[in-house]
Amino acid sequence: MNVIDLRSDTVTKPTDEMRRAMYEAEVGDDVYGEDPSINRLQERAAEMLGKEAGLLTASGTMSNLVAALTHCQRGDEIVMGDQAHMFWNESAGASALAGAQVRLVPNSDQGGIDPDDLSAAIRPRGNVHMPPTTLVCLENTHNRCSGGVLTPEDTKRVADVAHAAGAKVHLDGARIFNAAVSLEVPASELVKDVDDVSFCLSKALSCPVGSVLCGSKEFIEGALKWRKMVGGGMRQAGVLAAAGLVALDNMVERLADDHANARRLAHGLANINGLSLDADSIQSNIVIFDVDESLGTAAQFTSSLDREGVKVSSPGPKSIRMVTHRHISNEDVDEALARVSKVAGELPSTH
Ligand SMILES: Cc1ncc(COP(=O)(O)O)c(C=O)c1O
Repeated sequence: MNVIDLRSDTVTKPTDEMRRAMYEAEVGDDVYGEDPSINRLQERAAEMLGKEAGLLTASGTMSNLVAALTHCQRGDEIVMGDQAHMFWNESAGASALAGAQVRLVPNSDQGGIDPDDLSAAIRPRGNVHMPPTTLVCLENTHNRCSGGVLTPEDTKRVADVAHAAGAKVHLDGARIFNAAVSLEVPASELVKDVDDVSFCLSKALSCPVGSVLCGSKEFIEGALKWRKMVGGGMRQAGVLAAAGLVALDNMVERLADDHANARRLAHGLANINGLSLDADSIQSNIVIFDVDESLGTAAQFTSSLDREGVKVSSPGPKSIRMVTHRHISNEDVDEALARVSKVAGELPSTH
């Protein structure tokens, strides 16, 4: 039985072209700024995102942490959505290492933040009892909100409130190119109102390692010191950057295939009794659905799926997440649906 791995787009392996580029990569010591492949990647990433400069980091988590370290002082407050990856899945780095307190506002179903909620959450400056709100974080696409996409207008409305209060805006754009492909707008349009953005090369873009943090020259100069401090000065990491350059040139447009597969998957799941989701709301490559308690807990359902050769993750006690990616074909989607139907105790439905 072939295993259909829908846990995450992070399971994607480098393409043959990436492996060749990695083998042939021109490298140097990046801590001296002398790795030509890294320098090219950083310039190219910044150009695609309409920012002045870029910085290669080891991971999305490192980029988000470095952004918090660069923008915040100890005792500051960061406002983010209550479903933010930075809040749920990054080991409280912003609090533990940047020393900032995190304040949550509700995320909408698509992963946005209501500007009025943000406005109400922002602290008045100069009050000795209160932490100043120095940073607001957004996420696009939104992982825990089923890959929901923020439009340039959604982002601008939030950024305007933050900036009016003197706070900076960091965008966790781990999957910003999925958002760009979904909305058919350049990624630079989606990030023009934020101060900085991090995106991951290692997810649906299929690179083995790496994220790039992009922002103003001044911000990136500050971020360089913090990246060094957290151990992210990676010397001849041009072998990684070479794969990143291939990704930016050749792997972005194909994300539309993953999105089509996710919609197909979502509509199939919605037809299975006991599973609930709004299939029409799926905008990118992440599908999250609830399992009715008559089918057991999400953990039990996940184990049953695993026995049938379908790997998934479970973001909550009732919910299951499936992510489409380059190694998932149309046929895999249909086969996964048949196996899910079997586990849910139904005959496979036709799709
Ligand atoms: C939205 C989002 N941000 C950040 C990250 C962290 O990326 P990494 O696993 O490279 O640390 C992830 C990883 O899944 C993510 O989904």
